[in-house]
Amino acid sequence: MNLESLNPSSKWEEEQMADGEKWFHTTITEVPENSLVPKHSTLLVTAEGKKLFAHNDRLLKKLLVYKRSSNKRKAAAHIRKYLGGEGNGSVYAVGRTGVAIKEAGTQQSVHWALERMDGLYRAIENGKRNKLIPEWIGLPKHYGYLIPPISAEDQRQYMLMQQIDGGVTIEDIRSLSSGTSEDRERIQNRLGTPLTQTEIQGIEEQWKKLEGFLNTAIVQANTSKGVDEQRTFKQMVPDFHEGNVLIERVKFPKRNGDEPFKLWAIDQ
Ligand SMILES: Nc1ncnc2c1ncn2[C@@H]1O[C@H](COP(=O)(O)OP(=O)(O)O)[C@@H](O)[C@H]1O
Ligand SMILES: [Mg+2]
Repeated sequence: MNLESLNPSSKWEEEQMADGEKWFHTTITEVPENSLVPKHSTLLVTAEGKKLFAHNDRLLKKLLVYKRSSNKRKAAAHIRKYLGGEGNGSVYAVGRTGVAIKEAGTQQSVHWALERMDGLYRAIENGKRNKLIPEWIGLPKHYGYLIPPISAEDQRQYMLMQQIDGGVTIEDIRSLSSGTSEDRERIQNRLGTPLTQTEIQGIEEQWKKLEGFLNTAIVQANTSKGVDEQRTFKQMVPDFHEGNVLIERVKFPKRNGDEPFKLWAIDQ
């Protein structure tokens, strides 16, 4: 693990999540040359993030280039590609690394958002193992965050997660029939292959079942060993609507419960 290379001079502290999962966080006290981060930033890495960053110097370099260009008004798409978002922040792809970054203002607690998302991720994955949740439901992996100190010029909070395709939501799919021609073109470009009416209907059917399954995952997580805090659907998925569900066309529908699309819950 090369967490040390992210912050060689400081200590990493372990934090245990309600379900036993471990996170690691640190405050950057000394900034090494080429540092990704301003001094006194808080850096947090989830267990998924730890796995991702381990021995992945190429990715760390890409993140460095991304961070450097984040002050420019327009960065090249292979460095920082806009995916969407107006509400709590904007979301960008870090080139083609498969990592997406949500750049949010300080009004929202990134820590709590990350805890919720990461907890829900494991609830869903456990649900799949127990055959309670179908394979076509997903939640992007969340890798961690970077929060600059209050004094820093850049007040954005950076949350790192798994990129899902072009970031097309169910809301986008609906505006294929009701939106302007500009909307349609934008969505079409991100989708790549156009959707058939049958596919759109199929996605709508999946959407109807999604809430029930997410609820099942949460209820199940509450009953597992060592969990002392009971979480409700509303706590774990406070902003559930069609704009916060991404779709992805899968290569192997058989592995996806025979569904041609996977639905991903985001932005909770
Ligand atoms: N993990 C992701 N992969 C790809 N695109 C994403 C991802 N997360 C968000 N997006 C894109 O960014 C948009 C805004 O993200 P969201 O988290 O919903 O922020 P907001 O708070 O602005 O609603 C989404 O509608 C989607 O297009
Ligand atoms: Mg949203």
